[in-house]
Amino acid sequence: MYTQALNEAVERPRVVEDPEKLAAFQARIDAEEKIEPNDWMPEAYRRTLIRQISQHAHSEVVGMLPEGNWLTRAPSLKRKAALLAKIQDEGGHGLYLYAAAETLGVSREELYEQLLAGKAKYSSIFNYPTLTWADIGCIGWLVDGAAIMNQIPLCRTSYGPYARAMIRICKEESFHQRQGYEIMLTLCRGTPEQKAMAQDALNRWWWPALMMFGPPDSESVHTEQSMRWKIKRFTNDELRQKFVDATVPQAHYLGLTIPDPELRYDEATGHWRYGKIDWEEFKRVIAGFGPCNRERLEAKRKAHEEGRWVREAALAYAAKQRARAMAQKIAAE
Ligand SMILES: [Fe+2]
Ligand SMILES: [Fe+2]
Repeated sequence: MYTQALNEAVERPRVVEDPEKLAAFQARIDAEEKIEPNDWMPEAYRRTLIRQISQHAHSEVVGMLPEGNWLTRAPSLKRKAALLAKIQDEGGHGLYLYAAAETLGVSREELYEQLLAGKAKYSSIFNYPTLTWADIGCIGWLVDGAAIMNQIPLCRTSYGPYARAMIRICKEESFHQRQGYEIMLTLCRGTPEQKAMAQDALNRWWWPALMMFGPPDSESVHTEQSMRWKIKRFTNDELRQKFVDATVPQAHYLGLTIPDPELRYDEATGHWRYGKIDWEEFKRVIAGFGPCNRERLEAKRKAHEEGRWVREAALAYAAKQRARAMAQKIAAE
């Protein structure tokens, strides 16, 4: 997802929690009750969620950039309209998620500051460049496809506002995935050059898409706590396998080759087995040294600066409205 944060260490408790409250909290989770903003929750649960939801929100808004790169060069009016709608959806996803994070007692400004300062993470996938129109097809098909795998279980996550935001997000992601696959299908049924462009894009996006699910289970030592709290419902490797199993037949239907010489169908288990993922590359990109990390943050900072007058105007207008309402109230008394 954009939710690689789900794979990182769960926050260690800084406070000693009341064991009775903790037990009651866990009992509610076990009974599949939703935890709501005003309910008691362990500090570590709150902090883990803030980090995960905000990183998810950052991923949605940074994810608008690689696709925005192709808005002025979309090959037809229909494609431009669909891409515009998709990018707008991603902005909306960011908004729902920042709002969900705010219910945990952190402000959107604070979260945004962390992103612009380079302190917060977002999904590694958005640090790769979009070189051709086929990349837009691949992003919809693979990146939104992987996001769906990751995010469907989040519709049942234990924190109410996050779970509810995910329901609408998942519906929209499904449209994103289909528009991407349809771009790929059109290219693959086109000229040999178009098909070669589709294959080249798949070659570049396949492995980064697999990395979206985060490090292997053997290295995600804290997954267990997130699963106990039902923030997370499946492990990274389980989700990655589901994605591979769903996507390989789609690539075959397109007549494309997955860039993995070790890929093979395992008759006994019914799963597609894939080769070794380059985790060193993943770590480099997450640490800020991917092909576009610097460019993405610069674009966000520039947009934030250029939008300053809009925020100031909105605040001034709200203050004026409040003053007017107050004056009317006094006059009426
Ligand atoms: Fe999204
Ligand atoms: Fe999407």
